[in-house]
Order: sequence, then C-alpha cells, then structure tokens
Amino acid sequence: MSESTTESVPSIEVTGVSILLDVVTKRFPGQEKPAVAGLTMEIPAGKIVMLVGPSGCGKTTTLKMINRLIEPSEGKIVVGGNDVTGMNGDELRRGIGYVIQAGGLFPHMTVATNIGIVPKMLGWDKARIAARVDELLELVSLDPALYRDRYPNELSGGQQQRVGVARALAADPPVLLMDEPFGAVDPITRLRLQDELLSIQEELQKTIVCVTHDFDEAVKLGDWIAIFNEGAQLVQYDTPERILAEPANEFVEDFIGSGAGLKQLTLTRVAEVGLGEAVVGKPGERAADVLSRAETAGHGHAVIVDERDRPIQWLSLRQLERLETITNVPDPKLPVVGYRATLNDALDTMLVSSAGAALVTGRRDMFKGVINVKTIMDAITKAQGAAAVQSANAPVGLNTGVFQAAAAATTGEPAQP
Ligand SMILES: Nc1ncnc2c1ncn2[C@@H]1O[C@H](COP(=O)(O)OP(=O)(O)OP(=O)(O)O)[C@@H](O)[C@H]1O
Ligand SMILES: [Mg+2]
Repeated sequence: MSESTTESVPSIEVTGVSILLDVVTKRFPGQEKPAVAGLTMEIPAGKIVMLVGPSGCGKTTTLKMINRLIEPSEGKIVVGGNDVTGMNGDELRRGIGYVIQAGGLFPHMTVATNIGIVPKMLGWDKARIAARVDELLELVSLDPALYRDRYPNELSGGQQQRVGVARALAADPPVLLMDEPFGAVDPITRLRLQDELLSIQEELQKTIVCVTHDFDEAVKLGDWIAIFNEGAQLVQYDTPERILAEPANEFVEDFIGSGAGLKQLTLTRVAEVGLGEAVVGKPGERAADVLSRAETAGHGHAVIVDERDRPIQWLSLRQLERLETITNVPDPKLPVVGYRATLNDALDTMLVSSAGAALVTGRRDMFKGVINVKTIMDAITKAQGAAAVQSANAPVGLNTGVFQAAAAATTGEPAQP
C-alpha cells in the first residue's frame, strides 16, 4: 500500500506482528549451495513485504521457513518477539495464515469446511465457525449463501483463490504468508484480487509476506520489496518508489525491466488522482430526461447505476436518443476499475475496452467518477518531475557472510551490496 492510502485510515489498529529472520541458512541434503545463505531480514508489523527474484533463488524456501514448513539449518526465526525456532511446528502454523497458488483447497471438502479447518482444530464450536465462515466469505466478496456449500471444483480460479485467502484468515492470525497467490488466474481477475487484498489489508493491517514473479504486482502491493538473487541474496530491500528511482545495481535494473518510467504508473492509485464527474441515470427513467441532463452538463455520456449505485451501463448521447426507457441490463464489457487500482491497471482497462476512459468504483462497487487518458498523462508528467523519495525507517536486511554488510546493521539502513 502506498503511504497516502495508509494515511487516510490512521485509526486502524495494526494486528500484525513483526518477523525477524536472524542469520538464517537452509541447506538441502545433496545440494552443494545453500538455498538460503545467512539471510537476515526484518519484516515490520502491519506491512506487506514482497519477495521477488529469479526462479530457484530461494523465495519459497525463505517463506516456508517462517512457518517452519521448512526447518532452517541454521539461524533463528522470531515472530512477534518470540523465538519460534524451537516451538511446536503445528502450533506455530495455526497462528500463521498460508496461501498458495490456486488456493490449495482440499477438493473433497466444501468451501465452508475448508475455511473452518483451523478454527475447528482450535476447538471452536460449530455456530462460531459457521458465523466466521460467512463473515470471511463476505470479506472476500463471495456471497455466503451461494458459495459456502460448494466444492472447490465448482468454483472459478479466482473464486478458489478468494476462498484460499479466507481460509488463511480464519483464525485471525497476525501473519499471512502468500506464495504466488495470484499466479494462476487471468490478468483481469488478478487485478481484482490484488485490489481486494489491499482492501482487506486496509481493514486488518496484518503482516503479509508475499512471493511473486510479477514485479508490477510487487510495486502495487508492497510497502517494501525485497529483491533476491540466488541463495536468497538480498540485493535490494526498499520501498517500491526507491527501487524504481534508484535501483541498487544492474541486476535490479534488469529485474525491473524496461519502461521504468511507465512503471511509475504502478505507483499511483486511481484514488489519488482527480476523477471526472458524470451525469448519472437509473433504470426505469425516461431516456430523454437523462439525455437532457447530459446535454445541459455538456457531457457526451451518462452513467447508469443500479439500486445500489453500482455502474451497469455507460451510454452516449446517441444511444440515449434511440432509447425510450433506461433498462436495468448490465453491460458485461463496461470498463470499470476499483479506486485502489493503479493507473497502470486503469490504462489497461481503457485499452481493452478502447473507450479512452474508465468508470471508477469505490467501496461496495459504488460509482465514484470517471478517469480518462488525459488524467493519466498528467500523472506521468507529474511523477517524472518528482524528486527521488527519501527512505525513512527502512527495515534491516542483509546476508551475513555473503556481503560485508555489518556496518549497515548498525545504521538501521537496509544493506545495499
Ligand atoms: N526439498 C528440496 N530439496 C532439495 N533442493 C530443494 C528443495 N526445495 C528447494 N530446493 C532448491 O532450493 C533452491 C531454492 O528453491 P525455492 O523453491 O526456494 O526457489 P523459488 O525462489 O521459490 O523459485 P520459484 O520462483 O521457481 O518458485 C532451488 O535451487 C531448489 O532447487
Ligand atoms: Mg517458489
């Protein structure tokens, strides 16, 4: 989440706890090189930290050492101030949510049973579990009445992923580990799920460690991004803004890829730019009335919203002229983006719909305004003029024995080899 998003909800209580990987090494039997070599890394409470890096560099191994699905060979793991290295692994995992690709749901269990697994292990009674299941399904935007009794194979990939997130949150753990959670869904669904995760995080303020292959995803979701090279060498650990503005070296530059300027678009959210207003109509209204309002306002279009203020159609003056009454049939191709979406997402949506603009929705998918290409162009110009961002309170991250980074540990700055 960007700073401004966090600032807008200052009253939210942080429920996440900090995590410390303290000179952690993992050697797999029969492997010459360690998968993780002397990694020290601090993960601040209530933040989203994204782990990125080439295949095989040790991201999953690092993640799984936090809940000890993989036992570290050396070093210690501290969660919420407690050394968990010697703790009972099953007990530890009940307090840490874990989400993997495609949700990792048990196919022979219903959605409700899947979500209720950990609460059941914790001995909650049936009524409490049922209430929690419904609450979580609402949280991940699935109607409990429709979905609680389905089996995973009766759900789309995106829906399975949502259930996976709901399951990980079931016992309200302070920490959520996610391993390429949105890797298996189509790009549009992925954007939605990312927005949903940000919205959930805005509410819950967990500590989230998330592995991804997608650098844009890291920039969008991460408060901090850790870029790894082989052996979980921490090449750069910083805010998305700083990594884009000042990549530590060529490896990071290559990783960011071309178009770093355009990547600035991933740093700005739709909520942060000025939206255009629109003339709004409702189903059942006379089209002529909506038309005249649009003409009076000097607009070329009107947005039709349903009874819950969700946009369903976007009609031009010509379309309105040909209509008698406004219908309540939703247009499946309506270009809509959530207000947490990035400008990059918005641009994508516009290009796909070739509308040159998109409708923006807020909480509960309610219509908020219109974003167009010009708004986005202005934002690019502004971003390019912005000075490099200072990185305050950066968490510690270094590889003991790999880099001479001892000095960095005492300054509190992330190690920049
Ligand atoms: N159980 C295992 N036994 C032996 N070697 C392993 C085992 N698990 C992982 N490795 C090795 O450890 C290294 C790190 O693997 P890891 O799964 O952490 O990579 P990753 O960064 O998650 O890669 P990807 O992006 O492909 O998922 C790899 O070289 C891998 O082959
Ligand atoms: Mg992996």
